[in-house]
Amino acid sequence: MRRELLKAVYEEARTCVACPLHQSRTQVVFGSGHADADLMFVGEAPGANEDRMGLPFVGQAGKLLDRLLEEIEMDRKQVFVVNVLKCRPPDNRDPQPHEIATCQGYLFRQLDLIEPTVVCTLGNFATKLLRGDPTGISRLHGQPEVRTIGPRAVRLLPLLHPAAALYTPSNLETLRADFAQIPGLLGLGPPPQAAGEPEVAPELPALVSEALEEMRSALEQPEVVASPQAATTEQQQLGLF
Ligand code: URA
Repeated sequence: MRRELLKAVYEEARTCVACPLHQSRTQVVFGSGHADADLMFVGEAPGANEDRMGLPFVGQAGKLLDRLLEEIEMDRKQVFVVNVLKCRPPDNRDPQPHEIATCQGYLFRQLDLIEPTVVCTLGNFATKLLRGDPTGISRLHGQPEVRTIGPRAVRLLPLLHPAAALYTPSNLETLRADFAQIPGLLGLGPPPQAAGEPEVAPELPALVSEALEEMRSALEQPEVVASPQAATTEQQQLGLF
């Protein structure tokens, strides 16, 4: 059911025209990984390689992410990797506030469906969005905290963005040391789930919530077999294990 719901969100995102980034993207980069992952990474936005391949973190920063995962004896098939923005900003410029506001509903629905125990934010944009606070990554990296995102509490670990560690050895050492905390955090299991108001309560536009509701009920209908072409595109771009 979780996979089906994720695919339904992906299908919606794939044709999204809610912000001007759709005009310059090659394709939407929804995310990839294990739908039941306990560990989720949230990056910034697709770059040129990701835009071309339809998958997150496939360039140099992605190779570093793979290496750091390997060092803690994990791999990409065990985690889910997404970005704050699902479309590439032209010339890799920073995400703009209106783009984040428009796109964040997809991220919050991914978090909601995957239900990770540990969420690692990579860099400033993901950290600020998921903490609902403007404090920057250089002050926060490596300090895990329990945060309530949407309906659930997660263990949030802010990390430097791997791109910042590519050519700066001191950042790489910092990132590596912070990464070493991940197995211990996973070992703690999910944090206690407190009743009450979420700290970060994404306000999904009514239309998006209605669409999700429609999808939920549509998915309860008998399964429609996708065409081979659709399956290939979905497998390549969603990269769902
Ligand atoms: N940087 C990101 O933040 N995300 C990607 O997918 C690739 C590079």
